[in-house]
Amino acid sequence: MTTPLRLGIAGLGTVGVGVVRIIRQQSALLEARTGRKITISAVSARSKDKDRGVPLSDYAWEDDPVALAKRDDVDVFVELMGGDAGPAKDATEAAIKAGKDVVTANKAMLAHHGQALAIAAESAGQVIRYEAAVAGGIPVMKTLTEGLAGNDITRVMGVMNGTCNYILTQMQATRQGYNALFDEADKLGYLEADPNLDVGGIDAGHKLALLSSVAFGTQVDFDAVELEGIQNITLEDIDAAADMGYRIKLLGVAQMTGRGLEQRMSPCLVPAQSPLGQLEGGTNMVVIEGDAVGQIVLRGAGAGMGPTASAVLSDVIDIARGLRLPTFGQPATTLKQARPAKAAVPAPYYLRMQLVDKPGALAKVAAVLGDAGVSIDRMRQYGHQDTAAPVLIVTHKVTRTALDEAMAAMAKTSVVQGDPVAIRIEEVE
Ligand code: NAP
Ligand code: HSE
Repeated sequence: MTTPLRLGIAGLGTVGVGVVRIIRQQSALLEARTGRKITISAVSARSKDKDRGVPLSDYAWEDDPVALAKRDDVDVFVELMGGDAGPAKDATEAAIKAGKDVVTANKAMLAHHGQALAIAAESAGQVIRYEAAVAGGIPVMKTLTEGLAGNDITRVMGVMNGTCNYILTQMQATRQGYNALFDEADKLGYLEADPNLDVGGIDAGHKLALLSSVAFGTQVDFDAVELEGIQNITLEDIDAAADMGYRIKLLGVAQMTGRGLEQRMSPCLVPAQSPLGQLEGGTNMVVIEGDAVGQIVLRGAGAGMGPTASAVLSDVIDIARGLRLPTFGQPATTLKQARPAKAAVPAPYYLRMQLVDKPGALAKVAAVLGDAGVSIDRMRQYGHQDTAAPVLIVTHKVTRTALDEAMAAMAKTSVVQGDPVAIRIEEVE
């Protein structure tokens, strides 16, 4: 008879409780699919007494996740605490040293320490799996490492943070402000322990860095991701973008260019009718382009209890079935160090500014843009509000550097009030 696969689960929050629930409710199905029982030996969290809405008395309790990771009755350490360092990293390292495989949903830890952890695991003959870390319930790591393994990947892009997409789409749909929608995202279990990771684009940047590594065979380099969050996006921008036929998304793009690896996660305008433009709520979408396959689009719940636990179970099932792949799709020692390419690819931009009500104001802005080599594609001026009028400009393709120079020159004129807003337009299909 085959032996059961015994788990030790550290972290019993949104994701941890979801995993315990599936293992309790679907034990027969899991056994039928893997040929082994999947059991939980022990669990750990900060507070032993908290009612988590799921029975835990069948499992041993450990206050210390490191002790849990080293237990003799644990084959797989399931890390669902979060945090790029601290107990999550200590316990993961302890698990590898103790000869355990690791399943984690922790993109922060892997984005910062993935290369070192992968080397440690692979030299010890252990695996680290992290399907839940990228785009929640969407099986994107499996798609890249297995389904598309025969392709030279040319570009990976997508919306990978449920919180940001929820806030941006609900602002437009309900006309509610940022703060009310932030609270709703929290109730839905989308938020990171530190929500700045979400709205600052950092969480999605972590995910993009992991995707890049597998897609391009490079060492994870989160520091090279150009990051910008959604905190400064206003209802005014959402409305103006809609008026021009776009929607605003926190969009990640990774591509290998002649000048190196470009990785950026920033608010972008995408055509309102495109699949990315139509993406609502906490849903994520990842678009992968390969030389042989063409374009693949994956769409699904990017956060929340059920979807994330589903992804954790997919990793556990692979381990139960005996599938043993390197962390980043090829041995960690063979991953190259990519040269970072900052915003290498020019793009059209949306500019919104408040123009003072003076003769020649618009001409001055057009001249400043022209002097910086920025060509105007479309322009729209709205009625004056007190002393200024909102003006929207869509540029032709330009580098961010040239645009920043133009904006700096604009600030020196006396015709633009406050700071202009510039958002990249991604002409996705
Ligand atoms: P969460 O609800 O905040 O739960 C975190 C759990 O970890 C809690 O049970 C907490 O214990 C426990 N914990 C924290 N520090 C600990 C420590 N020092 N020792 C022992 N236990 C500790 O977080 P979550 O949303 O489930 O997220 C967990 C991980 O999944 C994170 O890496 C997150 O980025 C990732 N993730 C989350 C989602 C999502 O939709 N939520 C989606 C994808 C990936 P107490 O309960 O006692 O405080
Ligand atoms: N905080 C993350 C999000 C959870 O909102 O997408 C999923 O990684």
